[in-house]
Amino acid sequence: MAITADYSEKIPNNVDLHEDRRLQRALESWQPNFLTWWDSMGPTLPTRDVYLRTAVNVGREGWAHFGHVAMRDYRWGIFLAERKHDRRIAFGQHKGEPAWQKVPGEYRADLRRLIVIQGDTEPASVEQQRNLGATAPSLYDLRNLFQVNVEEGRHLWAMVYLLHAYFGREGREEAEELLHRNSGSEESPRILGAFNEETPDWLSFFMFTYFTDRDGKYQLGTLKESAFDPLSRTCESC
Ligand SMILES: [Fe+2]
Repeated sequence: MAITADYSEKIPNNVDLHEDRRLQRALESWQPNFLTWWDSMGPTLPTRDVYLRTAVNVGREGWAHFGHVAMRDYRWGIFLAERKHDRRIAFGQHKGEPAWQKVPGEYRADLRRLIVIQGDTEPASVEQQRNLGATAPSLYDLRNLFQVNVEEGRHLWAMVYLLHAYFGREGREEAEELLHRNSGSEESPRILGAFNEETPDWLSFFMFTYFTDRDGKYQLGTLKESAFDPLSRTCESC
């Protein structure tokens, strides 16, 4: 697996996407839908002239190397942590067995559900936070807000990659749904209640980061221990 991110591709990645044309085409057709979603549901304040950190390289030592890009040039991609040699399942019924590189049939539905729920929270929080830029207490807060937003987009891309790469047609359909559900929507709300709550001001946002997101942090810590190795490798630096 290439560890250096390939930025010559339409979708920057370190998963050798060009070696699987079908997968590459499927993700390239999801990409414009994502960008349309970002334009219509992402930050309402113009993000021109905002410079953000972006991962340019991923390695096991010190997870990512960062460069700076203008927000308008920010390119989401797929960056998984390096595969650990001979990683074993750490607990439970399958303890000690090699971590799964493919989805075992008996856990397919459960794993898909887990990934969909995780994936659903990522665009949901961008939607919740979309108006906060207008009332940022400082430039520092504003920049951090946008940074958080693009990182959520990165996590979404990771979950969508897993759905496309490992869950066939159902996975592709779930990936579409991640952009159709919206925070607070009557007809198709986000899956978890907390992600349908309004975040109209920075106090709500700070409470969100302090409680809801704090909980999410530990949740990602548990996903990192997943027996399904590709899922574990998306959570290295979530
Ligand atoms: Fe996230």
